[in-house]
Amino acid sequence: MRFPHEENLINKLVVIGLGLIGGSLAAGLKANGRCGEVIGIARRQDTCEQAKALGIVDRAYTSLSEVAAELGERDLIFIAVPTLAVARVFAEIKAVVSPQVTLTDGASVKGSVLAAAVEVFGEVPAQLVPGHPIAGSEKSGVTAARAELYRDHRVILTPTPETGQAHRDKVRRVWQSVGAEVLEMPVAEHDEVLAATSHLPHAIAYSLVDTLANDAENENIFRYAAGGFRDFTRIASSDPVMWHDIMRANRDSVLKALDLFSQNLAGLRQAIETEDSETLLGVFTRAKAARDHFTKMLAKQAYSNSMQDRELRFHLQPGGKVSGSIRVPGDKSVSHRAIMLGSLAEGVTEIEGFLEGEDALATLQAFRDMGVVIEGPSQGRVKVHGVGLHGLRPPPGPLYLGNSGTSMRLLAGLLAGQAFDVVLTGDESLSQRPMNRVAKPLGLMNAAIETGAGGVPPVKITGGRQLQGIDYTMPMASAQVKSSLLLAGLYAEGSTRVTEPAPTRDHTERMLAGFGYPVERRGATAELSGGGTLTAAAIDVPADISSAAFFMVAASIAPGSDLTLLHVGVNPTRIGVINILRLMGADLTLSNERVVGGEPVADIRVRYAPLQGIHVPPDQVPLAIDEFPVLFVAAACAQGETVLTGAQELRVKESDRIQAMADGLQVLGVRAAPTPDGIVIRGGEIGSGRVDSLGDHRIAMAFSIAALRAGGEIQIDNCANVATSFPGFAEIARGAGISLEVYDT
Ligand code: S3P
Repeated sequence: MRFPHEENLINKLVVIGLGLIGGSLAAGLKANGRCGEVIGIARRQDTCEQAKALGIVDRAYTSLSEVAAELGERDLIFIAVPTLAVARVFAEIKAVVSPQVTLTDGASVKGSVLAAAVEVFGEVPAQLVPGHPIAGSEKSGVTAARAELYRDHRVILTPTPETGQAHRDKVRRVWQSVGAEVLEMPVAEHDEVLAATSHLPHAIAYSLVDTLANDAENENIFRYAAGGFRDFTRIASSDPVMWHDIMRANRDSVLKALDLFSQNLAGLRQAIETEDSETLLGVFTRAKAARDHFTKMLAKQAYSNSMQDRELRFHLQPGGKVSGSIRVPGDKSVSHRAIMLGSLAEGVTEIEGFLEGEDALATLQAFRDMGVVIEGPSQGRVKVHGVGLHGLRPPPGPLYLGNSGTSMRLLAGLLAGQAFDVVLTGDESLSQRPMNRVAKPLGLMNAAIETGAGGVPPVKITGGRQLQGIDYTMPMASAQVKSSLLLAGLYAEGSTRVTEPAPTRDHTERMLAGFGYPVERRGATAELSGGGTLTAAAIDVPADISSAAFFMVAASIAPGSDLTLLHVGVNPTRIGVINILRLMGADLTLSNERVVGGEPVADIRVRYAPLQGIHVPPDQVPLAIDEFPVLFVAAACAQGETVLTGAQELRVKESDRIQAMADGLQVLGVRAAPTPDGIVIRGGEIGSGRVDSLGDHRIAMAFSIAALRAGGEIQIDNCANVATSFPGFAEIARGAGISLEVYDT
């Protein structure tokens, strides 16, 4: 539909080749009215007639020379013929069309188009903007053309230095007018990417169907061929001439992709022959994980924006109470460590209650990338086929760890003693977090480890170094630093001793012991010696007390609440939140206390009770380090003042949590004054408003809880990262009685 204020983008569009690709651009511009006239050129007269009858062109001819003289600066020719026919069309254009007219094409291979241009014109002409719409279907011909074909699809342009800017802009705007997203790429990169993602699958689909069709039993085979065959071979119905041309035009890149694939297939064949379950499971689990990831991306927008562009906003209605029994997802810290130690162990580690959040999944993917076969996760169950301390393989590229600081710091230690090089990268938030706190002591252990300027990611580790044990006193209370050094210590000569200035979570030490690796604890020092082995173990991951904390505060601040949190990990190094809430007057009762897989677990009942402001005891800070955002909400609902000091670590979490919480609380009318190492909060009324979580999961969830005591609606921006630690938060919160809606913005 054209809007009155929109001018024509071009005067005439001439489409040479009225098949699916050409016909659809003609139809799109006819439909949106952004060009004066659409003219079709087809070899056959009946195609011309059909195109006119379908209303996708105004005029149509069998030869370009019929219209060439009419064309000038404001016009565009779109060449949509099979790839190897482009040269012939160029020759015709050179003979009859003015160099003012913009030319673009839709061929799937760009190197051959440029070569044809050089052959015909003597150089790449400024008027040529090579392009490739990533759209289509197995259907072909003018009758398959659709005005909507390019909506939300990508078009890749591969301009050269010779390409004129005005021509480039014109082509871009025309594609955008039919709803396409336009990007640019160098020619060679385009041809390699397309060889792997499009040309190879077509070659394989054609070959498979041809193989089966040649089989004497083919009638039966096709009769019984079910969904798998249909899904896999749909594209073998595509236009044979077009694909013949593509394979020849992109010969080198296609051969490279085919060789890689043949190698993998040969490996699979051998695994089947030798009944090598491990390799089979390895290929299938890795492929499934990759395909599932791709499906998620596609579900958002076909071939278009990636998941990272996804933005979620929470809207919360004020008031309410929480009640019932809930089990929050598995502990993040324990889940990371279960994958890491399971991978390095001898034997198969079975995990239950694994956190299927993005952070723990980043760790899981990293080990898959290093050759570990990992089945699942499926409903919290994961099977890790350990490769032993020296069985990891070099990953194919940098390990991307998303938002997860724990993954990066622990892996830095674990990988420092490997034989191979590796690079660790992360998202925008992780890329600003300090890594020198691990890089420095690992360097003292003789690791070759580099960070970006200022000590932030990427972290580059050079392998093949013999690590030496050290005796290290940490300048900050950090379980991540302690764990990183202990994991490096597994590979070090002699013993590694880490002393902490205050107790931090000890999951690494407990789990190492559970895997049969001796760790000694003397006062504030944890010690182990390198050269041992880990033996696979069963792991039952308790519910994460850091996730439960949101609901402990929810029940404590909302009158009438009575909520039970089931199977929560209550490791003494994690229960700062319980201790602090009790000091504030909260009513929490632990029951059913037991030890599961080396970790204490309990059910926690929380009933509403009026809270008092307190000075948070400094010794509780490291024990509640992740729970402060929601504890600040408790403080905002308490009578009097709450003062926190000694918590400067909060400034280097996924966001500067002191500033982020102070800013948000102030928006909601709460008196909150940040200090360099803490905050002072005066309890009182909570108002309403719109706050920014800065992409920090715990800030987003903390403000969701505040709504229970708010005077009006609270909106929270940037909430997609809640999935890093607490997938299903919105559903669980709603089930407990919090009125939360999620909007995809
Ligand atoms: C974690 C340790 C803590 C914590 C983080 C998880 C761990 O970080 O904040 O969420 O699993 O070891 P620091 O060790 O940096 O304090």
